[in-house]
Amino acid sequence: MLSVWWPLWNVVLWFQVVRMMPQLDEFCEHHSTNTMHDFCCDLHDESPQFSDCQTDWHDKIHYTTDEDELLYLYCTAECTYNSTDFLAANRQSLNLNHVREHLENDLANAADEALLYEAYVKCDKHALGQLEHKDMQLLAKRLTTYGCHPFPGLVMECMVREMILKCPAERFHKTAQCRVVRQYLQKCEQRPKK
Ligand SMILES: *[C@@H]1O[C@H](CO)[C@@H](O)[C@H](O)[C@H]1NC(C)=O
Repeated sequence: MLSVWWPLWNVVLWFQVVRMMPQLDEFCEHHSTNTMHDFCCDLHDESPQFSDCQTDWHDKIHYTTDEDELLYLYCTAECTYNSTDFLAANRQSLNLNHVREHLENDLANAADEALLYEAYVKCDKHALGQLEHKDMQLLAKRLTTYGCHPFPGLVMECMVREMILKCPAERFHKTAQCRVVRQYLQKCEQRPKK
């Protein structure tokens, strides 16, 4: 069964991304997770599409540097959203009808469905806004070598963040680290925007 929780795939990996992108300093959400070493929310269930894409892209990008690993992560994200049909043809927006269908088919719980759908709607917009940033445009250039686009990776990162912020209380890991990360993200969201 297709899991809808795959965006929470590998927070640890994503956090390495955060660490290796110091040029995105003004986006505090990118720092949030340096202290994170584990999943904070018990909603994760990796999808077969995600695992397949990881394998594919490990074969295609033999990374030895953080920079190349970042390319691997973004391509894996796009590959996964391609396989689930979440990515619209323009590659800069989500096919929200497909997202909704998946959520309806895969989740028994209407509250979870609504929570996730809202997160996808928010992350769709958020990722589009980040594409304008000059560092993202540099990354986009490097990704074209592999035929990948940065939008899906930005959505995935945003979904990880949303899941930590919005995780239902009974599924949140109440460890010190998870609390710290969540508090950081909350402060980050409340900061005055330029
Ligand atoms: C995703 O699909 C688009 C459109 O078919 C394609 O151009 C792109 O290369 C695919 N991305 C990956 C990572 O497979």
